[in-house]
Amino acid sequence: MTTTTLGVRASATGGGRARGERRDARARASATGTPRATRASGRRDALGKVLIGGVALAMGDASARARASEEENAIRVAYDGYASTYDDLDGGAPARALGLDDLRARALGSASGDVLELAVGTGLNLPAYDLKRVTSFTAIDLSPGMLAKAKARSETLAFGNDARFIEADATALPFEDGSFDFVVDTFSLCVIEDPVAALREVRRVLRPNGRAVLIEHSKSDVGPLGAYQDLTSKPVKTMSKGCVWNQDVEALIAQSGMRVVKTQRALLGLLVVVEASPSL
Ligand SMILES: C[S@@+](CC[C@H](N)C(=O)[O-])C[C@H]1O[C@@H](n2cnc3c(N)ncnc32)[C@H](O)[C@@H]1O
Repeated sequence: MTTTTLGVRASATGGGRARGERRDARARASATGTPRATRASGRRDALGKVLIGGVALAMGDASARARASEEENAIRVAYDGYASTYDDLDGGAPARALGLDDLRARALGSASGDVLELAVGTGLNLPAYDLKRVTSFTAIDLSPGMLAKAKARSETLAFGNDARFIEADATALPFEDGSFDFVVDTFSLCVIEDPVAALREVRRVLRPNGRAVLIEHSKSDVGPLGAYQDLTSKPVKTMSKGCVWNQDVEALIAQSGMRVVKTQRALLGLLVVVEASPSL
């Protein structure tokens, strides 16, 4: 570690020499006879800069928060709008033809204990749960329109009245640390504004021996497909409900502090199914 004092670089291991140099530097400063008033106004100047810097940082922070909440609001409004037609494209025959129903069933069949589904949408995953293994079920989403659809779907299945459908932000989950055994996320990380923040929350709310399972859009590792995804990611995001389809999902998981336990690619590498542990 190095710190800089009065223009002298002091290393943690070279304290004696650095202290001597700092004394010399102070001596040189007083030998030049800097008048007391000038030194006092220098200190006020420095203090002023620190205060201005602090205020600027706080303002920057506040405007970043305001931007984030504007973006979240835009996602909420957009998905409330998509809610009535979402299943026509993302569920039903088109999804079956792409093998998405099978993928959901295989990935989520092992969900057990206290289960949280992140950004549940209209609840397309709900039929994939083996409810005999699930002790409690909680789902969150930013969009009340999508959540209402999910809740209605749960009532056609055997979820029971204890299943919770909560309007919440995946990046600030309203749950205690270590509340869940299993967290599910499908096709949401690609829409959530700050996916690493959401994954950190997943890590926080999972019990140490818990599991997260994700099915996500991913940058393909097949031929030039990944490069094509990079080139087209902006228009694709605009045209496909805000979806970023070229994410490096495993890297996002690693950034969140979780560990990738298993990973499997599907659909020419455009999708990835990942199992992750909150413990490294
Ligand atoms: C593409 S849909 C996926 C829905 C569902 N998981 C599925 O597999 O069909 C993305 C969902 O993420 C939700 N979402 C986006 N940002 C969110 C956030 N920060 N917190 C919670 N939900 C969010 C949207 O409202 C939408 O329902």
